[in-house]
Amino acid sequence: MKVTWKLPDGSEISADVAEGLSMMEAAVAQNVPGVVGECGGNLSCATCHVQVAEPWAARVGGPDDFEDAMLDTVEAARGPGSRLSCQIRASADLDGLVLIVPEA
Ligand code: FES
Repeated sequence: MKVTWKLPDGSEISADVAEGLSMMEAAVAQNVPGVVGECGGNLSCATCHVQVAEPWAARVGGPDDFEDAMLDTVEAARGPGSRLSCQIRASADLDGLVLIVPEA
């Protein structure tokens, strides 16, 4: 599936991501600035915060209660499409996904 990260400076990084990989793992592999993934995807750092762009937010779905609480700790402003990208897995139905990397 193809994923595009939109960066705060207006630039974009796009990549083909293998199914099953998390969006945090994919971002780290592509050196996407601002997505760190400090905890390795264990839902304990929130350094993988992104905002899912419309119209993808509904398809990706919202956070569960625990992730929701973690999102309240993020440094960057939380938006309606905010998710921890370690919790979003690449799948064919998300092909074309656009993720916005918030300003740190
Ligand atoms: S990588 Fe730590 S919460 Fe996602």
